[in-house]
Amino acid sequence: MRAVLVANPKGGAGKTTMATNLAGHFANEGLKVTLCDLDRQQSSLRWMAFRDPEVAPVTGYFGGNQISLNLPQSADWAILDAPAGLQGYKLTDYLRTVDKVVVPLVPSIFDMAATEDFLNVIRSELRGRRNCLGIVAMRVDPRTKAAAMLEEYLRHFDIPILAYLRNTQNYVNVAASGLTIFDPPRARHRRDVEQWQGLLQWLNQE
Ligand SMILES: Nc1ncnc2c1ncn2[C@@H]1O[C@H](COP(=O)(O)OP(=O)(O)O)[C@@H](O)[C@H]1O
Ligand SMILES: [Mg+2]
Repeated sequence: MRAVLVANPKGGAGKTTMATNLAGHFANEGLKVTLCDLDRQQSSLRWMAFRDPEVAPVTGYFGGNQISLNLPQSADWAILDAPAGLQGYKLTDYLRTVDKVVVPLVPSIFDMAATEDFLNVIRSELRGRRNCLGIVAMRVDPRTKAAAMLEEYLRHFDIPILAYLRNTQNYVNVAASGLTIFDPPRARHRRDVEQWQGLLQWLNQE
């Protein structure tokens, strides 16, 4: 079993979008996926409840009340959808439990400022572990001013940007029916699926 934590201290950064789409991707690969919703708002579980029984299955549960996280070892992948404001002993416990941490980040001065302390904390907690922390630039196209601002900001953290996901209603629309851009009809979201490839390759690395 491998596990990835999707976290950012700010609400609306795209954690649940990222977590549900990752779950959809692995499920469509024929893998056994568990969504561990750590947020009291339980958006991921709500998404799962809407999911059509005809499409690739994703199971899930609420893990936010556990003192120490216990992931189902029978799954191929566990995707952890973190709440906003995650910090302290829970953050430490989650970081200890997972193989990879992905931070979706919107390149606005507000989001970057709100994420700074968080990046410093996780970077220091993950010290000595190679290749396990990455950023996904949310709602932005590469080679834009916003992307350049984000790259400049991340330079002093030395954390890689694994993907740039454009701003599109596709994510909103598929979520409304418990789907992801990775569910059929896949051709419809080809352009978005392509944008995930760097992130997916990185997740598959040891
Ligand atoms: N790349 C994107 N393009 C357009 N809308 C997006 C994108 N990513 C996320 N959203 C939308 O932004 C809102 C907040 O995203 P969400 O995943 O719920 O954030 P979080 O879980 O971090 O609070 C949702 O309505 C979601 O559909
Ligand atoms: Mg959320």
